[in-house]
Amino acid sequence: MNEHVSIARTSEWNGGRVRIPAPIALLAELTHRCPLACPYCSNPLELDGVKSELTTEEWISVFQQAAALGVLHLHLSGGEPAARRDLVELTIAAAKAGLYTNLITSGIGLTEKRIAELSDAGLDHLQLSIQGSTPALADKVGGYKGGYARKIAVAEWTHAAGIPLTVNAVCHKQNMDQIGDMLDLAVTLDARRIEIATVQFHGWAERNRKALMPTKEQVLRTNTFVDEARKRLEGIIVIDYVPADHHSTYPKACMGGWGRTGINVTPSGKVLPCHAAESIPSLNFQTIRDMSLEDIWYDSDAFNAYRGDSWMPDLCRSCDRKAIDMGGCRCQAMALAGDASATDPVCIRSPMRQLLVEQADADSRAEPPEFVYRGRSIEAD
Ligand code: SF4
Ligand code: FES
Repeated sequence: MNEHVSIARTSEWNGGRVRIPAPIALLAELTHRCPLACPYCSNPLELDGVKSELTTEEWISVFQQAAALGVLHLHLSGGEPAARRDLVELTIAAAKAGLYTNLITSGIGLTEKRIAELSDAGLDHLQLSIQGSTPALADKVGGYKGGYARKIAVAEWTHAAGIPLTVNAVCHKQNMDQIGDMLDLAVTLDARRIEIATVQFHGWAERNRKALMPTKEQVLRTNTFVDEARKRLEGIIVIDYVPADHHSTYPKACMGGWGRTGINVTPSGKVLPCHAAESIPSLNFQTIRDMSLEDIWYDSDAFNAYRGDSWMPDLCRSCDRKAIDMGGCRCQAMALAGDASATDPVCIRSPMRQLLVEQADADSRAEPPEFVYRGRSIEAD
């Protein structure tokens, strides 16, 4: 078990004084390589090439530093983490460091043998994405023929290896009305949990707004469906639900608040407060090749930029919800308002809210155009 070191520090910057807790989770983006081409890909627009990826030894050092810093959960992600040939070795090292390991995968690149090896390596949990409840729709959204059949096989091998399974269903205009079928599929696959997450419109998804933005009616139907399904399936499957931002009243506390609970490490070792933080041009990010994880977490300008409330506009600083949502998502404020320290435009109190709702409404009602697929990146390591 991880000897959890619950350190916390109090620091001062921007005239504010803030207590910084130890992080809980680290998302290791092992690679940006991926066989799928999803139109809502959350990887940055500029991908790290295979030659810049951290080596096995460097990743192991990240895991050890994370455990010493107090991290409990390690998410092994990508791109497609199975594209890394050293995935089993990395899992062994993470388990040895005392971290709870969760593999976030499309399933492509996993075989029955490899899943058994991951189980022996100490993998605690596997999160498998599905793009639809039928082969035709799932393969169309993922841009990968045969992907659906592979995922079903991966779910069965995962179950046989005794690894707990979560199914991750990203939903949008073109599959939201099948959410009941995706839930039934997750139950059939013996998943313990399903995460129904509505597409986030930053990065690549911005290019597919008209193809992906759900209508308000779809969102309201899904909200009702989830409420009913949670009661009906209590004790059978846990349903996590991330509703559509653009049709919500208030923003969510993205990442549980900037620099409060989580760390992302990119394939080349850049350490970020969230997966989209590089979309904020005023921030500079350190890599674990330059600085320790501990120094980056507590002392770097990028992690401190939006901690506390001294950076907030008056609207948020004086608001009774600021401790609930911390002003919302900084990357969304950057993408929609052009200012990362603005109130998240999703908020009903934001002056930009009306514009956001009108745009979302128009995109949701548009006839869906063809997807602009994310280019595949499948170089070998
Ligand atoms: Fe949250 Fe700011 Fe909106 Fe208040 S004004 S609810 S703190 S985003
Ligand atoms: Fe970066 Fe929300 S995605 S703060």
